[in-house]
Amino acid sequence: MTMAINTVAVIGAGTMGAGIAQVCAQCGWATKLFDAFPEGLSAGMENINAFWDKGIAKGKTTEEQKAEWSANLEAIADMATAVADADLVIEAVPEIADLKHRIFSDLARMAPDHAVLASNTSSLSIAEIAAATDCGERVIGMHFFNPVPLMKLLELVYHEKTSEATIAIAKVAAAAMGKTDILVKDIPGFATSRLGVVLGNEAIRMLAEGVASAGDIDTAMQLGYRHP
Ligand SMILES: NC(=O)c1ccc[n+]([C@@H]2O[C@H](COP(=O)([O-])OP(=O)(O)OC[C@H]3O[C@@H](n4cnc5c(N)ncnc54)[C@H](O)[C@@H]3O)[C@@H](O)[C@H]2O)c1
Repeated sequence: MTMAINTVAVIGAGTMGAGIAQVCAQCGWATKLFDAFPEGLSAGMENINAFWDKGIAKGKTTEEQKAEWSANLEAIADMATAVADADLVIEAVPEIADLKHRIFSDLARMAPDHAVLASNTSSLSIAEIAAATDCGERVIGMHFFNPVPLMKLLELVYHEKTSEATIAIAKVAAAAMGKTDILVKDIPGFATSRLGVVLGNEAIRMLAEGVASAGDIDTAMQLGYRHP
């Protein structure tokens, strides 16, 4: 049986971390949001509140829902406290390999022995992040898209030591968060960035060959393929 998720810790309260924490709180999970910088933490909490207030103004959510979600969300200024009871930790700090390695080494010591440790990295090796811990079987990539509350895709990235149980928990989390997951091997660019690079390169080549103007190439993708 897959472990139940009750408590989630999110490390980093920036663009992605705040969005992830917001969705976790909306799932009914006790959500602990941590940032190493006080101003980062308060900005993250303010962004979440602003998102909820906008939803109320548009009639998409209610004050009662906001109150319920807010009660699930806690800003915590100390990482050890934030992860102490976590079943799932999702890291969303800047895309700097050394920083992520250091944080995962700390998470392996600070989080409970059963906790799944996930990184929202867009491009770094999950195997190398996992190598900073002594529990690689519990390490996985959970690659969300911006803005997290609205984007449906969640790319789950496994490395060779990620256990089946960890993948199963990540899939349960994805479904609870209303996301559609895809399961991808830990290779450079995963699936989404790799596809994006091919499209971008082809667009540049077409422009260089004079096939169409940049504006018309954009319009082709936007109207022909619903590309943003
Ligand atoms: N922005 C996107 O569109 C996007 C999409 C998918 C994945 N990602 C990935 O998500 C991760 C975060 O990106 P972002 O755009 O949210 O960055 P961001 O700069 O908006 O936020 C990063 C946050 O981490 C905090 N931080 C810095 N050092 C920290 C530490 N040691 N401990 C805790 N918090 C710390 C910062 O104060 C900041 O609030 C990156 O790995 C990025 O590649 C970003």
